[in-house]
Amino acid sequence: MAVQEIRHDFPILKDVIYLDSASTSLTPEPVLEAVLDYYHSYKANVGRGVYQMAQLADQRYRDAHRKAAEFIGGAGPEGMTVFTRNTTESINIIASGLKWKKGECIVTSLLEHHSNLLPWMRLKEKGVDLRIVKPDKTGKIDLSDYEEAITKGTRLVAVSQLSNALGTVVPVKEIARICRERGAALLVDGAQSAPHMPIDVKDIDCDFFCFSGHKMLGPTGTGVLWMRKGEEGEEREERVEIEPLLVGGGMVEDVSDGGFVARPGYEGFEAGTPDISAGIGLGAAVDYLNRAGVEKIHEYEIRLTRRLLEGLEKIEGIEIYGPGRDSSEARGGVVSFGVDGLLPHEVALMLDQASNISVRSGHHCCIPLMKHLGLKYGTVRASLYLYNTENEIDKLLAALEQIARMG
Ligand SMILES: Cc1ncc(COP(=O)(O)O)c(C=O)c1O
Repeated sequence: MAVQEIRHDFPILKDVIYLDSASTSLTPEPVLEAVLDYYHSYKANVGRGVYQMAQLADQRYRDAHRKAAEFIGGAGPEGMTVFTRNTTESINIIASGLKWKKGECIVTSLLEHHSNLLPWMRLKEKGVDLRIVKPDKTGKIDLSDYEEAITKGTRLVAVSQLSNALGTVVPVKEIARICRERGAALLVDGAQSAPHMPIDVKDIDCDFFCFSGHKMLGPTGTGVLWMRKGEEGEEREERVEIEPLLVGGGMVEDVSDGGFVARPGYEGFEAGTPDISAGIGLGAAVDYLNRAGVEKIHEYEIRLTRRLLEGLEKIEGIEIYGPGRDSSEARGGVVSFGVDGLLPHEVALMLDQASNISVRSGHHCCIPLMKHLGLKYGTVRASLYLYNTENEIDKLLAALEQIARMG
């Protein structure tokens, strides 16, 4: 990968070693230019006007949806790609949009980010049963645990494909197979996977796929919800039938005294004026990632991650959480660790102040997981992306070596 060339597009990297991309990624110049171009050249609302500027805005916004859909292998009539504000909103749309019946069951796991846990917890008030599968100390969940938890009465299974706290990769395709056997729908939280590895929602065979544009070089305030459209007569149709969260302007085909008919495409789920420039920026982010090559990004991150894990293993006083270097489990470029004698926040502050290195510390919006692992104060987390370098990893390791001596 032409990393140095890529880094030119991220001027912010002159001053900082940024290792917090799992939280939000940096945004390259071509994406910012696409956002500005909308304001400079053709700012108009979408889905409404017939004049030229409105048509151009509409076309660019629609193109961005197509690009996002293609990016996850979800283009075509079998699915619908809706823009949201983030993964959290995408998941909440599903939680509130399905018509729940008392006694129905949702299966999720303790690996999940709060955004893929709290919306399901809230459904307990409606009499929905929640089963939470627990991982082992490395974040691994046996498929047999899912086999046991997903039963005929399970309506929905909601799992992340890559843990934002431990870097564990979850075998969502195998989970989808179990879901099919038992008649359950599958929601995949792709917030950490979609930016970093090739995704094919049809190959996974999931019903819902959620991700965040701002974690994949896009502007903040961008997220995506892909929904499989149940084919006519298909048994799954009722299971994936979603009511839009918001209703109002822009989303209707017809309105009368008696009610309204929603527009059939993504517009039916995007009531009100959307964040048009950010959506167009997300389309530009997809273009950028495609130019760099998602498979190449994935391989490059695996290499950087191995280097980081190797280095961490050599430092006395550092403990790695999640799958280690020798683990046969697949893992992503999210590496959690602790330093003996120091709190995670202390380590993160020292890295920032002494070396201008930005890492995340704390519970990573995974309090139940941290409790399960006995990590009261959470972990230090370094998360990588296409713009990071081996040199930056080495600088992090050198800084940690010094910090670990103080612990
Ligand atoms: C696995 C996972 N799911 C969901 C989210 C929530 O994403 P957002 O804050 O963009 O809604 C995150 C954010 O870190 C995440 O890592």
